[in-house]
Amino acid sequence: MARKGRFVSGIQAVRGMGDVLPEEGARWDGFEQTARDWLEAYGYRPIRLPLLEKTELFVRSIGEVTDIVEKEMYTFTDRLSGESLTLRPEGTASCLRAAIQHNLLYAGPQRLYYAGPMFRHERPQKGRYRQFHQVGVEAMGYPGPDVDAEHVVMTARLWRLLGIGDVTLEINTLGGAAARARYRAHLVHYFERHAGELDEDSRRRLHANPLRILDSKNPAMAGLLSEAPRLLDDLDEEALKHFEEFQEILREVGVEYVINPRLVRGLDYYNHTVFEWLTPRLGAQGTVCAGGRYDGLAEQLGGKPTPACGFALGVERVLALMEACGAAAPALPADVYLLHQGEAADRFGWRVAEQLRQAGLKVILHAGGGSFKSQMKKADASLARFAVIIGDDEAQVEEVSVKPLRQAGEQFRVRPEELPPLIKHRPERA
Ligand code: HAM
Repeated sequence: MARKGRFVSGIQAVRGMGDVLPEEGARWDGFEQTARDWLEAYGYRPIRLPLLEKTELFVRSIGEVTDIVEKEMYTFTDRLSGESLTLRPEGTASCLRAAIQHNLLYAGPQRLYYAGPMFRHERPQKGRYRQFHQVGVEAMGYPGPDVDAEHVVMTARLWRLLGIGDVTLEINTLGGAAARARYRAHLVHYFERHAGELDEDSRRRLHANPLRILDSKNPAMAGLLSEAPRLLDDLDEEALKHFEEFQEILREVGVEYVINPRLVRGLDYYNHTVFEWLTPRLGAQGTVCAGGRYDGLAEQLGGKPTPACGFALGVERVLALMEACGAAAPALPADVYLLHQGEAADRFGWRVAEQLRQAGLKVILHAGGGSFKSQMKKADASLARFAVIIGDDEAQVEEVSVKPLRQAGEQFRVRPEELPPLIKHRPERA
C-alpha cells in the first residue's frame, strides 16, 4: 500500500489509511478474484455489510474490556439522531447482526463471506494500519468441529493457490462457558497472588476480564504469563472431544498445526476452537489470518442460539507475504494498445476498439493525440501485447496494422474482424 510519499503541501490521506495505487491495484484485483473463486469452491455466499454500525453492537460482541473497544474504535455521535455510531473494526458482529435482523438463521445454516475495509485506531506501522482490509468467512448454524476444520483446511488451500509458504498454524480451545468460568476463577486467584507484577492495564482488567491479561505484549510480564494456569487443565470432556475431533480432521487432511495453550484471541466472543496462521516473514505483524468458534454470540445479540465459527484474513498482510514469497501475481497486461492519428483514423479507431472488446480482447484506446512516435512510446510502456495502428491509410480501406510488442514478429495488416483469433492464438514469449 502507498503510505508515504514526497511531502506535498495540500491535503494528505489520514494517517494509517493508505491508497492502493494502480500498479498494486492490479495485484489486489488478482487476489480478490482468486479469493472469490476459492470461497465459491467451498459453497460460501457473499454478503455485503455497512461500514457503520451502532456502537453497542461492537461493545456487546467484541467485549467492553478489550483493546478494540477500549482504545481502537472510530466512534462518533450522529449529529441528527444523537446515536453513537462506530466504523466497523471487524465483520463478525455485523454479519451476525444482519443474519439475525433478516431471519437468515431460520432458513437453515449459512455459509457466508464478506470483504472490505475495517477501521482500528492502532499505532500504524508496517503491516498494521488504521484502515485495513479483510476477507471474512462465517459459518452459522453448524455445531460440530467439522466446520472448524473446514475453515482451517480451506485457508491452507488458499495459501497453496496464492503460492504462499512459510506459514504455521496455531490452534487452541477455549472450552465452553462452564470451563471458562472455572478458568477465570483460577486466573484471578493466580494474578491476585502476583498483583505486584501486573502492569496498570492488567490490574484494571483483573476482575473485569482476566483472560485479556494473557494477551498482554508487555515483556516485563512474560514470565508471569508463562507460569499462569492453563485453560486446557479446566476443560470438560465435551470440549476436549470437540477439540480432538477437530484435530483428527486436520491430521486426516494433512494440515500441520501446533497447539498453543496461550492463544486466547483479542475478542471476547470466542469459545471452543480458536486458530491463527502466523508467518515469520512479516516482522511483528505476522498474523495473516485468525478466527474461531463463537457459539454464544447470536444469543448475546438477541437472536436464537446459533453455533457458529469463522475467520478473517488481513488482505494487506497476505499480499505482503505473497511478495515476500516471490509469489506476487503479475498484473495482466492489455492485449492491444490502439494508436490512431488523423480524423478518419480517430473515428475508425473508436469502432475498432469496441469491436475488439466485443470479441473479448482487452484494449487501451490511445487518448490525447500526439505523433505516432509518442503514441508508440506509450504503447510500449503500457506492456500491451500488440500495438494496433490506424492511420488514414488504414482507415480508408478499413484495415489495421498490427505490431507485436512483446514477441518477435513482423508488422502485418488485417481487417479488424480477423484480428481476435490471430492474437488469441499467438503464443506468448515467456
Ligand atoms: P482479528 O484477529 O481481529 O479477527 O483480525 C483478523 C485479521 O485481520 C488479523 O489476523 C490480521 O491479519 C488482520 N488485521 C487486524 N488488524 C489489522 C490492522 N490494524 N492492520 C492490518 N491488518 C489487520 C477478527 O477480526 C475476527 N472478526 C475474525 C473472525 C471472523 N472470527 C470469527 N469470524
